[in-house]
Amino acid sequence: MLKKIIIANWKMNPLTLKDAERLLVGINKELSKIKKTGIVVCPPFVYLEKLRKLSRKVSFGAQDAFWGETGAFTGEVSASMLAEIGVKYVILGHSERRALGESNETINKKLKAAISAGLSPILCIGENDRDENHEYFNFVKNQLLACINGIPKNLLYKIIIAYEPVWAISTTANRRDASPADAKEMAIFIRKILSDKLGTGMKMPRIIYGGSVNNRDAGEFLTQGGVDGLLVGKASLDVKKFTDIIKIAENEND
Ligand code: PGA
Repeated sequence: MLKKIIIANWKMNPLTLKDAERLLVGINKELSKIKKTGIVVCPPFVYLEKLRKLSRKVSFGAQDAFWGETGAFTGEVSASMLAEIGVKYVILGHSERRALGESNETINKKLKAAISAGLSPILCIGENDRDENHEYFNFVKNQLLACINGIPKNLLYKIIIAYEPVWAISTTANRRDASPADAKEMAIFIRKILSDKLGTGMKMPRIIYGGSVNNRDAGEFLTQGGVDGLLVGKASLDVKKFTDIIKIAENEND
């Protein structure tokens, strides 16, 4: 069994560096007994360098990284620059970025750049809604295959695949709860796509779940959801909720 990994996506929060430091220090205080669970915090870019120095238990990730290394790309931050300051992970293809116009083709270029810079990309995929004909399976398959297109098979395991059904994310209007069974069904489907692509004997990417996970349902997702970890948005901004989730994962790792 792969060790569980719990990833915080702080999105564009909190408003001040002081609050970001307070949140991280609060989380860090609760981690003394955590030995096996992977913990990653993905704050806004501007806090990364400062926060990185405040915890040795937590690894850090960015919420995006550009595909070019350096050059005339106003406003962008490259994967190599992030790696340079000690960042280890990067979320790519989040639905909130896709909603701003990011395409699978762009995400594919960013994934390749992130891997070659030595970062572990967290690739978000997931359908906007579910339909009776189960077309959403094809949607997720196409999204995944387009995003990983051309990445050498022996490097694919470096990607963490986050299944995030957009209809279950906390900020989606009229959202609904996804169940551990929904996550499990899709995790199996994604594993099948990957094993068809990779063949036998190749190291597989981890598959995690995200979408309104909190300290009440994290245990169910980890035990019944067939996933290797969780990507947590809103609940990761609350020290108690987020560290409860980490403690639940730690028990699962025992
Ligand atoms: P949520 O966000 O946990 O607030 O639904 C998850 C995400 O968007 O990554």
